[in-house]
Amino acid sequence: MSCVLVTGGAGYIGSHTVKVLLKRGYEAVVLDNLSTGHRQAVLVDEAHFYQGDIADDELVTSIVEKHGVDSVIHFAAKSLVGESMKHPEMYLWDNTAKSVRFFTTLKECGVRNIIFSSTAAVYGLPEQIPIPEYLEKKPVNPYGESKLMVEKALQWMEQAHGIKWVALRYFNAAGAELTGVIGEDHNPETHLIPLVLQTALGKREAIQVFGTDYDTPDGTCIRDYIHVLDLTDAHILALEALKKGMSSGALNVGTGNGYSVREVIEMAKEVTEREIPVVETERRPGDPAVLVADSTLAQQLLGWKPQFTLREMIASAWKWHSTHPEGYRR
Ligand code: UFG
Repeated sequence: MSCVLVTGGAGYIGSHTVKVLLKRGYEAVVLDNLSTGHRQAVLVDEAHFYQGDIADDELVTSIVEKHGVDSVIHFAAKSLVGESMKHPEMYLWDNTAKSVRFFTTLKECGVRNIIFSSTAAVYGLPEQIPIPEYLEKKPVNPYGESKLMVEKALQWMEQAHGIKWVALRYFNAAGAELTGVIGEDHNPETHLIPLVLQTALGKREAIQVFGTDYDTPDGTCIRDYIHVLDLTDAHILALEALKKGMSSGALNVGTGNGYSVREVIEMAKEVTEREIPVVETERRPGDPAVLVADSTLAQQLLGWKPQFTLREMIASAWKWHSTHPEGYRR
């Protein structure tokens, strides 16, 4: 089996992917600078771990040569929309410039297959729901722009150097690995489901609902939540399809089902059987009313099908949060 270099493999989606790669018999090497990832999230002894930067040419080259890396899953990035609005240069540097540098090193080492972690944020405020891949890309924040620019860099590097790539545009990743051993631990936490569950645990007084006057049935924003294990599966299938000759390109990964903020909170009350106090507040700037994926293309090209329901996402996340109330800091 081939060796896969996973950048950002100590992060939320990266650590889940590493675990599944190893389970499926791949060799995996993690490269993570631990700026937001957690060393403890890379549990399995068989995963080689390097703390370092994707723009460190020497380090990347030595990892590729030492482990015989033939493909890469590139997660390492900053991912806070609000932070990107305040510090766009940070996102353009860390997410875009460093990725281009990283791809250049990979090209020089002869690594040809790249799966890239992209985002629904490339669509900005889409005029069509569900969102197909061909819809116009008009990011409304530097985070989405920084990812779109990497997709474009990959297109040009394919043309010039024959790099093969798939960009997976994630919708709202949620849930945790089913044993509850690894999970989502961001600092600061900004995502709805972990915040709702921290409220159920009594770590927060209330969950804020950002805006109740959206043009949706209950007035709150609708998102397409997708289980992190379904995302992981999409990465591995994309890598396998690419190696079998699938054309490069971008694919949406969502379930196609939208749930409102209120529906998520209600489901969390059922799953946790706890009180979850709610405070209704102003809209959060930059939030589109509805984001739901059309992931027909990923399903057709990869033979991928999301398996998990919202209840299962929340239940698995609850298993993680209730057994790790302080996340990895224990
Ligand atoms: N929300 C609340 N209260 C909170 C947190 C979130 O009401 O305390 C709402 C948000 O307004 C939004 C929904 O819950 O309507 C989901 O918010 P998240 O922050 O969990 O996720 P986003 O949809 O904002 O962000 C996700 C990814 C980003 C990506 C974006 C694409 O996390 O990386 O989708 O638009 F950029």
